[in-house]
Order: sequence, then C-alpha cells, then structure tokens
Amino acid sequence: MKVLILPGDGIGPEIVAQAKKVLEVLKKDGLDLELQEAPLGGAAYDQYGSPYPEFTQNLARAADAILLGAVGGPQYDKLDRPLRPERGLLAIRKDLNLFANLRPAILYPELANASTLKPEVVSGLDILIVRELTGDIYFGQPRGIRTNEAGEREGFNTMLYAESEIRRIGHVAFQAAQKRGKKLCSVDKANVLETTEFWKEIMTDLAKEYPDVELSHMLVDNAAMQLVKAPKQFDVVVTGNIFGDILSDEASMLTGSIGMLPSASLDVNNKGLYEPSHGSAPDIAGKDVANPLATILSVAMMLRYTFNNEAAAQRVENAVKKVLADGLRTADIYEEGTTKVSCSAMGAAVVAAM
Ligand code: IPM
Ligand code: MG
Repeated sequence: MKVLILPGDGIGPEIVAQAKKVLEVLKKDGLDLELQEAPLGGAAYDQYGSPYPEFTQNLARAADAILLGAVGGPQYDKLDRPLRPERGLLAIRKDLNLFANLRPAILYPELANASTLKPEVVSGLDILIVRELTGDIYFGQPRGIRTNEAGEREGFNTMLYAESEIRRIGHVAFQAAQKRGKKLCSVDKANVLETTEFWKEIMTDLAKEYPDVELSHMLVDNAAMQLVKAPKQFDVVVTGNIFGDILSDEASMLTGSIGMLPSASLDVNNKGLYEPSHGSAPDIAGKDVANPLATILSVAMMLRYTFNNEAAAQRVENAVKKVLADGLRTADIYEEGTTKVSCSAMGAAVVAAM
C-alpha cells in the first residue's frame, strides 16, 4: 500500500513527522506500507513554481492514500491566485475526485473543559459532517472579477450542483448514518437558493432507498444556530461545499480544540486524502508546540476507510486516548493540573502508548 506524505507548509512538517512515526510503527509490526513524500502548497511553489506540480500529481495519482499536513502562509498571500497554496489543495481534491469529505467532531471526555460551551451542552458530542468537496460555488463556472457594462468592477461566482454530484454524496452520507445513529440532517438554503432547493429534492428522493435512516432538513442559518444551542441533536450532517466548510469549523470548536480533529476526503473507491481539520498555523510554525493529534487521528481514519483495517485504526485511537488519560497536553488543550508537552513529545508518547 502506497502512502504519499505531503507535509505542506507552516506546522505541516512538524505534525506530519509525528504521524509518520505512527506509520513506521505499524510498518514495523507488519503492515505492508510504502511511504513516499512530495511537496504541496507553498512548499511546492517554492520548489517547482506551482502549488500542485506534476511531480506531486504523479505520485498522488499512483498512491493508495495520502496524508497531508496543512498548506498556506502569509508569504504566499501576494501571489497570483492560481499559484496560491490553497489552490494546490483544491487542485488535488478535484484531480483525484475526492468528493466526500468526512469531518467528525468528537468531544474527548478528558477535554470537556476545553470547549467554550457548557460541559452539559457538549459532553458526549459525536457528530459527523459529510461535506461535498468538489462542486458548488468553489468550482462553478463562470467565476472571476470583471468590469460590467456600467463600468463598475464586480466579482462573481456560480453556485451549481449536478444531480449526480448530489446523489453520490447523498449515498455516502446515508450509508454513514446507517453505521451510526441512523439520523441524517441535510443542510440547505432552499428558501433562497435554487441550487440547494434542488439539493433538498434529491436528498428527499434518496431517502426512499434508506428507510432505516431518519432524514431531516435544516436551513443553514438555523443549523449554525442549532450547532451551538443544542449540538447533540445531530448525528450525521450532509451539506454542500461552502456550507460544509463553514459548519465544520463551527462544529470543530464545540470540542474545544480544532487540533484534535482529523478528516478524510474520499473518492468513489475509498482512495483518500487524510488531513487534520485545522490549518497551517504560521504563527507557531517551527516552534514544536503544535498539536499533532489531529494528524495522528487522520492516520487512524486512513486505516479505517482506505485500508479497511479497523483493528489498526483502533490501536492508534486508543493510543491517543491513553496519552490524554495520562494527562499529556499540547499548549492548545493545556489546562491546570495537566502536563504540557511539545509536539514531538506528544508524538513520542503516542508511539510509546501503541
Ligand atoms: C478547508 C479549508 C479549505 C477549504 C481552504 C484552505 C481552501 O478551509 O479544508 O476547510 O475552504 O476547503
Ligand atoms: Mg475550511
């Protein structure tokens, strides 16, 4: 099994180095892994002049799974749009057809105090956001900045979903709900936007194929409110690319630390790109203080979804639970009475717990 590692920018290389230690333990214990590495984002621009260069593309296409750190940094903000690190991320998602983005928001009992919400509102929280990742206003054409007939400049994007795109993400979400609490909430803005009125219609139609799953619909503004008001009402949430981008950041913060949350982006065959839900955090890059647990938990998701190896996935997740139970905390989740450790020390502790 070929795993391509894309350290990326900012804290990416530091956190990925810890996840790599975990992969190496699994390899030593008999998992048939071949690890390769390539640049993506700003690092790729620096080396090859493009955020998703051919070198990376060839390895990514050949890989069975990909582990990504994070991309982006202030030094790239002035580049032409197509050269920016974020475009590298969007390009690899689109190139590999990674349309299904799974973003769990789980509250670890040890971290109940890390949330800004009252413990009783969030304790036991376990939500899965299924975000469509290769369509919507992110990719719709036409798009751009132009001067209109009146001589005024304007920016424009196109929100668009084809029926097949809605159906395939719908199937992923219904099937995920079947394996969990059997509740699926589809989020739209059907009172204003035709694209999402259509989305709602297709989700309703799909529900006939999944009689064991209870489908509900919610407007995105209400969903944003309900997520902080009563987040435990949700089991699986399915939504389009832009709403999913926003709601998944919101959901992640219910747990107190975005540094804890992994994500998977899958194609139809469960080939996947796995990455932490957080960004490249340039302000703390190179200081060995970042939280590597989201990246390590992304390895667990890789084992589960691409390699179908539930035992190995749980081995990694249990090691993470163990270090949390032992009181080890990186700075982002530190509280009095626990032990503050560096990024590399956290990685080493997880490896020891394995
Ligand atoms: C995410 C990020 C990306 C997105 C950015 C970096 C392009 O916010 O993965 O959620 O908007 O999809
Ligand atoms: Mg985002």
